[in-house]
Amino acid sequence: MGKVKITICVGSSCFARGNSKNAELAEKFIAERNLREDVDVELEGSLCTGNCAKGPVIIIDGVPHFSVDEKEFMRLLNELFPANNKE
Ligand code: FES
Repeated sequence: MGKVKITICVGSSCFARGNSKNAELAEKFIAERNLREDVDVELEGSLCTGNCAKGPVIIIDGVPHFSVDEKEFMRLLNELFPANNKE
């Protein structure tokens, strides 16, 4: 798998509407799965992307996802990084 870039909009609207929690979720998910070692995943915050009405906004490899609640974000993360070595 190549490099994966996850950009979380941390403009005030998205941040208040769920991306503060989503950012924590992403950190936890990446740490638990050791993704920084296994695949090259880059997590970053961005300023308002101009889509506040459709927030929270999360951009994965340049593709914007809108209205990303925790459940949807977990779905996206699990889709991107399928667990292949569950104990
Ligand atoms: S704050 Fe995220 S799009 Fe405006």
